[in-house]
Amino acid sequence: MPLSAEGFRDALATVTTAVSVAATLDGHGLPRVVTIGSLCSLSLDPPLVLFCLARDGASHRVFCAADRFAVTVLAEDQADVARRCAGRRSARFSVPLALADGLPVVPGALAHLLCSSHALVAGGDHTIVIGRVERAEVHPGRPLLYHRRDFHTLASPEPTGMPVGSAAGFTKAR
Ligand SMILES: Cc1cc2nc3c(=O)[nH]c(=O)nc-3n(C[C@H](O)[C@H](O)[C@H](O)COP(=O)(O)O)c2cc1C
Repeated sequence: MPLSAEGFRDALATVTTAVSVAATLDGHGLPRVVTIGSLCSLSLDPPLVLFCLARDGASHRVFCAADRFAVTVLAEDQADVARRCAGRRSARFSVPLALADGLPVVPGALAHLLCSSHALVAGGDHTIVIGRVERAEVHPGRPLLYHRRDFHTLASPEPTGMPVGSAAGFTKAR
């Protein structure tokens, strides 16, 4: 039986992702933000990251024309930011942004990656946007996650004081 679009979506909805906001300035100098779950590390030397952007979205043309963009990795309390940056234009304009080296970033997040555009690669109905990370800032905190079409947070157990491997139910990795 051929794979349906729904079957594909359901299978990929089981892949848990971090949630980020890609941002750049459009030709009028206005911020363009879009929520992405496809951020991925690509290369260490040179330092490259990628994300996949839908070709039929309004942001596609803007990011493909941009020389630089920023990626903000969202913190666990920023689901509202993620929803707004995936929604209507008016909602996106209501997201508070800061400027880092002239690029829009979301404050209070886990990390900011300031990138120069490195390459655009066609990938079906998406474009793979590859950026060279020129500067990275990392802040303490826990990530916002996306799994089965909903936002989640990391549910790490509270530290017990016992080393991993000695607590009941754990076996030491060989
Ligand atoms: C958690 C989450 C992850 C998303 N990941 C992506 C993504 O990786 N690529 C993408 O093109 N759109 C993604 N979207 C949808 C976009 O945020 C956005 O709604 C869509 O691209 C249309 O925006 P545009 O018209 O500005 O292009 C995601 C939405 C959510 C809520």
